[in-house]
Amino acid sequence: MITRRALTLGAGIIASATALDAQFGRGERSRGGGRLPVPELINASQLGNVVKLRAAPGRHEFYKGKPARTFGYSAPILGPVLRFRRGDRVQMIVENALDTPTTVHWHGLLVPGDCDGGPQQVIGPGDTWHPTLGIDQPATTLWYHPHPHHETARQVYLGLAGLIIIDDGSSLGLPQEFGVDDLPIIIQDRSFGSDGSLDYDTSELSTIYGLRGDTIIVNGVIAPVARVPAGWVRLRLLNGANAQNFELRFRDQRTFYAIGSDGGFLAQPVAMKVLRISPAERFEVLVDFSDRKAVVLETGPDRVMGIFGQISDFDSDQYVPVMRFEPIARAAAVTRLPQQLAEPAAVNAKDAVQRRQFVLNNGVCGQKMRMSGQSDMPALIGINGRTHDPNRIDVETRLGTTEIWEIVSVGMPHPFHVHGAMFRALSLDGAPPPAHLAGWKDTVLVEDKAELVVRFTQPATREHPFMYHCHILEHEDAGMMGQYTCA
Ligand code: C2O
Ligand code: CU
Ligand code: CU
Repeated sequence: MITRRALTLGAGIIASATALDAQFGRGERSRGGGRLPVPELINASQLGNVVKLRAAPGRHEFYKGKPARTFGYSAPILGPVLRFRRGDRVQMIVENALDTPTTVHWHGLLVPGDCDGGPQQVIGPGDTWHPTLGIDQPATTLWYHPHPHHETARQVYLGLAGLIIIDDGSSLGLPQEFGVDDLPIIIQDRSFGSDGSLDYDTSELSTIYGLRGDTIIVNGVIAPVARVPAGWVRLRLLNGANAQNFELRFRDQRTFYAIGSDGGFLAQPVAMKVLRISPAERFEVLVDFSDRKAVVLETGPDRVMGIFGQISDFDSDQYVPVMRFEPIARAAAVTRLPQQLAEPAAVNAKDAVQRRQFVLNNGVCGQKMRMSGQSDMPALIGINGRTHDPNRIDVETRLGTTEIWEIVSVGMPHPFHVHGAMFRALSLDGAPPPAHLAGWKDTVLVEDKAELVVRFTQPATREHPFMYHCHILEHEDAGMMGQYTCA
């Protein structure tokens, strides 16, 4: 039966604006918020390109005095920001101090399948994994997170995720003082028990629609405040949620500028008022705080979920706070918006050697039929009618080629992600992509249908294939994932 709670999950409704507004700046006493925490920056090159990461259980107070059990990388929750320089080879030493198997996947990093950290590269409890990462891609923001099959959603939910910054030497006149005018912003949603614990609900409905929380956290805390210089500030936004799409805007509706997407810079800054960001997507944006006015960044209801009649009750226009920015008198390093960024490498759809179709289904159609007694068809969550099978290679690609992948969403919009490759959107729902979605990407929200030109530059064998999957983590864990080789 579809319950009201389920409808709320589907609609992605989050706690009311007034309740959360009251929390800003009083976080230390009330809900554990306060200043925006900036994760530690690890500059790999300053460490001789040897970097240790330790996945371990931790304790973290989302609510003051109510510690929650969490997982983190070398921290109680989340992990350090890893800065890699293009051209370097980085030796990672990844220790699993959890009591459960894990893997670490470098999402968006273009490295061969045998160091990608997919579900086959299990690190047992107490074990250590030593991949060497050859860094060779344009400047951008990536991230890392666990990828053990059937367990990714829970491990990410408990706190395992961190950002990666790729530095290629170009500065383009952009703000780049980490933690000052260049801020990592990891946005997630969570639900809490009354004792402040993280509540990972694994009901059938959260499998079908993906798990959505009722409280937003940024860098692991509720409703934080960032003090920023009164000038242009660069936000490296990551949607680290399991399933929720965020619809970000500033409360005063100020214009901000998208400057980069998953795979690198856009050609020019793109003026925006609202930015939808789906799970695993990244956008770098520039915001001007030279008016010295404090402003709230807020998110609206998950509109793409609102297209289902069953959730129309909750189709409200209410936006809720994500965090607040307070400009301070400190002189800003960057006082003007660059006009030109970096032209993304061209790709020609005519060069594509293959066209393939992938139909993503969350099983909701089968489910509805089953509920109404019209069918005993199983609710199959998968791609092209098949759930993930680690022993099956679904697609074989050729190194150095491009292909057109047509992605079709059934049941609801799915954020589609490919490992080991970047793509350009040729069309989204039959139209050319809007400017901020026209650059190189590794994840895109497919409402109905997308045509992607995928460029394969990294090898992957049958033993260590690349994954492609829906980045709603409950969908991925339930088998909405396939694997491909590249040779
Ligand atoms: Cu974010 Cu399969 O990855
Ligand atoms: Cu990935
Ligand atoms: Cu999905």
